[in-house]
Amino acid sequence: MPGGAIAVASDHAGFDLKEILKRDLQEAGLDVLDLGTSSATQSVDYPDFGAAVADAVASGKARRGVLVCGTGIGISIAANRNPKVRAAVVHDVTSARLTRLHNDANVVAFGQRMIGTEVAREALKVFLDTAFEGGRHAGRVAKLSKGCTK
Ligand code: RB5
Repeated sequence: MPGGAIAVASDHAGFDLKEILKRDLQEAGLDVLDLGTSSATQSVDYPDFGAAVADAVASGKARRGVLVCGTGIGISIAANRNPKVRAAVVHDVTSARLTRLHNDANVVAFGQRMIGTEVAREALKVFLDTAFEGGRHAGRVAKLSKGCTK
């Protein structure tokens, strides 16, 4: 796996899973940038945390981002507002692998209320260990960066 920090963040509904994934990353010897939140009981707004990880990845402060909210959806929508971010909601190991191979996703989002902890842990490993396939996918990913507007 190449070097560089992994930025992690969640809202309150994703806090517990974020902490588990953060610990896994730290135990794997990776540099982890925790951008919050810091409690499962203090209600916060997921767009703030999606934007924080998006900024870290877009600026190069982090090479990948990990987001968790209740569903993974809201926080991924927030991150995807940043044109340099390709955030994918992942529910299984196969989608974690394919979004790296085909979409060159640089942020992965999980829904703590949707996914089993062990599946999320394995999916994150696969997400970080899988390289972009390039080839026929490169032009499609380049179109994403252009904004996909007609
Ligand atoms: C918070 O209750 C919940 O709405 C949020 O975590 C997320 O699921 C939104 O998409």
